[in-house]
Amino acid sequence: MVDDYALARRANMRWNTPLDEQHADLLLRRLDVREGTIVDLGCGWGELLIRAVDGTAARGIGVDVDEVALDRGRRAATERGAEVEFVEQAAAEWRGKAERAMCIGASHAFGGTKPALEALAATTDRLLFGDGYWAAEPTEAAREILGDDILTLPGLLEACRETGWRVRHLSTADQREWDDFESTSWSGRLEWLLSHPEDPRAAETREWLDQREREYVSVYRGVLGLGYLVLVR
Ligand SMILES: C[S@@+](CC[C@H](N)C(=O)[O-])C[C@H]1O[C@@H](n2cnc3c(N)ncnc32)[C@H](O)[C@@H]1O
Repeated sequence: MVDDYALARRANMRWNTPLDEQHADLLLRRLDVREGTIVDLGCGWGELLIRAVDGTAARGIGVDVDEVALDRGRRAATERGAEVEFVEQAAAEWRGKAERAMCIGASHAFGGTKPALEALAATTDRLLFGDGYWAAEPTEAAREILGDDILTLPGLLEACRETGWRVRHLSTADQREWDDFESTSWSGRLEWLLSHPEDPRAAETREWLDQREREYVSVYRGVLGLGYLVLVR
């Protein structure tokens, strides 16, 4: 049973990545979905996947381990009559071929950028890949919070080359997309907190909000980038 807190946390997020509507449209045009199967590995609630199949003859498969997100995706697909199936499974364990694939902000599900690019090469020959990169020299604090295996943008493109992919499209999330992503990622919890001030989870939610806001503006704003690549092979 999914409670109101679980739903409220991400209620204001369109998807779980820094991306505005116009940029999303561009990425989907470059991915060029027509027919067959499109799989989204680490799909979250699959909003981009639902849009990807819209108006095409393709069917979508969304794979994730987050039950709450999958549930939201299933409800959205049903309401909008989208031909998308949501599967609860580890992305690295999904076996199949697809005409198109997406993996956005989920390379960690494969053990990192390069293992993800290698694994996805066995799945498709046209991939929308969204991955973090250092947009500026990371501080020690940034490495501590975000990990040590993030590449630079040239390093990310090198990893594509080394795994046999060619870059058909490259764009990056801009500051407004990042600020909107961060704001929507905390505003769901904030609104929940304002309407549940006495809830036993209120104190930890307040702490989470303080920490996330501080970390964003003092540690990784302008330091962590998100690159969107349409890769072909
Ligand atoms: C940053 S979110 C991106 C979600 C989605 N791609 C989007 O753009 O909205 C990363 C997603 O990876 C999922 N994830 C993490 N580990 C996973 C795994 N081992 N297998 C499948 N999904 C995983 C999380 O549940 C989460 O939904």
